[in-house]
Amino acid sequence: MCGIIGYIGHRPATPLLLDGLRRLEYRGYDSSGIALMNGDGIKVMKRKGRLAELEALLSEDGQKLESTVGIGHTRWATHGVPNDINAHPHFAMGEDLVLIHNGIIENFSELKEYLVGSGYSFQSDTDTEVLANLILEFYEGDLLAAVTRALLRVEGTYGIVVMHKNHPRSMVVARKGSPLVVGVGKDEIFVASDLAAMVEHTRDVIFLDDNEIGIVEDGEFNHFNLDHSPIKRKTTHIDFSLEQIEKGGYSHFMYKEIMEQPQTLMDTMRGRILDDGSIKLGGLIQHMDELAKAERILFLACGTSYHAGLVGEYLIEELAGIPVEVEYASEFRYRKPVIPPNTVAFAISQSGETLDTLEALREAQSRGALALAVVNSVGSTIARESVGGVYLHAGPEIGVASTKAFTSQVTVLVLIALLLRQQRMGLDEMSVEITQAMRQLPEKATRILEDQSQILDIAKMFCRASNFLYLGRGTQYPVALEGALKLKEISYIHAEGYPAAEMKHGPIALIDRNMPVFVLAAENSTSNRKILSNTQEVRARDGVVIALVTEGDTRMDDLANHTLYIPTTHRLLVPLLAVLPLQLLSYHVADLLGLDMDKPRNLAKSVTVE
Ligand code: M6R
Repeated sequence: MCGIIGYIGHRPATPLLLDGLRRLEYRGYDSSGIALMNGDGIKVMKRKGRLAELEALLSEDGQKLESTVGIGHTRWATHGVPNDINAHPHFAMGEDLVLIHNGIIENFSELKEYLVGSGYSFQSDTDTEVLANLILEFYEGDLLAAVTRALLRVEGTYGIVVMHKNHPRSMVVARKGSPLVVGVGKDEIFVASDLAAMVEHTRDVIFLDDNEIGIVEDGEFNHFNLDHSPIKRKTTHIDFSLEQIEKGGYSHFMYKEIMEQPQTLMDTMRGRILDDGSIKLGGLIQHMDELAKAERILFLACGTSYHAGLVGEYLIEELAGIPVEVEYASEFRYRKPVIPPNTVAFAISQSGETLDTLEALREAQSRGALALAVVNSVGSTIARESVGGVYLHAGPEIGVASTKAFTSQVTVLVLIALLLRQQRMGLDEMSVEITQAMRQLPEKATRILEDQSQILDIAKMFCRASNFLYLGRGTQYPVALEGALKLKEISYIHAEGYPAAEMKHGPIALIDRNMPVFVLAAENSTSNRKILSNTQEVRARDGVVIALVTEGDTRMDDLANHTLYIPTTHRLLVPLLAVLPLQLLSYHVADLLGLDMDKPRNLAKSVTVE
């Protein structure tokens, strides 16, 4: 997704902007560019493709770019194909005013028509160039006033930074729906869409909220509501080290994040399971009465976070006896959802910025639900807009394929399910058993991650397959969905996850000797025993079975072609261990195929468009 960085200070801006853009690469992009205050004008340089292309352009250009004021952008195309012209920054006509923008201007065609009628012409296909010209249309010497007037005409979402040559040491910033944060350093100010872009230089930041606008000048930041009433918000100190967002010696962020899971599981649980097994979640304390009365739980999420929500559905229904619905956030907001009284909605999101999820939570809240969140990114929009919730404490997740966030999300959902159970039934034997088993998870996860030889062998055998099927029952069904998502997004191999018994209602037609089928059978409950017959059905049609079972389980010995083992745990915690071999398998397959799993094609880390 698009990324923004801006700088006003005393150091040369170009290297700072390029560094910031490099730290934003993980969000996904297809072009990049910078704009610098340059003497009495503004110089824009932009290129389709990777940052290296922009760097090549800068060195080709050969000019000494010593400006100490500039903005940079990585674009992920929405309006107009990825090319040099559509890349940001965008000049307004006359090249006095320049703009970078994250988000989408929904009424851009009407605005463009109006501007064309007023004599404006356009170079690109973008909504951003329309906004740049709209600001210019209102410019009468006061940049803040012009941006405000333009934004009042705009429908859609934006995080923007605007510069005008008449104001060589200032820039105007504004946000609605697309994150923007201002970093305050010593005699220098940064603006970015993401803390990662500036954390090397400052950790004292001010988060902008929706419908806020601000002006950055030398060493100073003032910010306002769109009616220009001033906002006084203190800086927040972020405890977030650069090392945390670097690879720490691993070849890829995704691999680092997979391997971190024993630690992140511990971090997610830390301080939340008391010695006697009771659960304490600080972010929910204010809402204990509403949770005690909850008659329905709603999980709103996308992608991997949606799969975590599906695991949560099994957990809460079994442990607390409360009906749960898990909704794709994008679908929820556009069908007229019925929210009965005493509904508690949880947005689940790693980034806390997924627009579909944010809008779904707003919709649920506007219909009377208590709006809570399970989020990883501290200070993100969803975290700030929800009235309470639980942070994952998994640290920044950079790899586009979500891994450690999933296990931390499921861990938090186990904790929430136990909290709801304990509110209703007191601290019983089952609660205690589960919390004891949770404490052992980090060590068991380490055992799985330590020896990858068998998974690597399987990756070598199947990395040329064209299709994969993942089957599971109960809580392992969402894990099957997650395994399939991981494989397709980073190795581009088509993969489907199915409830194992559903296979015979259609997908069985696909089974032949070229179809590897990953069967998740990692526990020995009555319902899961039925997976043996589902596996028979695959073998009877020449399908190749890779089975995942718990140590000591011999049921698959004569059935599966290949068997992987995970340590035993409480039946409800199996997803937390079963997903690890699936993450590793996807990683190794992509690696063997020579693909860049940290930046898979067409994907963005944080999806801030609908
Ligand atoms: O940041 P979020 O958890 O809200 O993101 C939701 C999805 O975009 C995300 O999980 C996506 O599916 C990942 N690429 C999965 O690996």
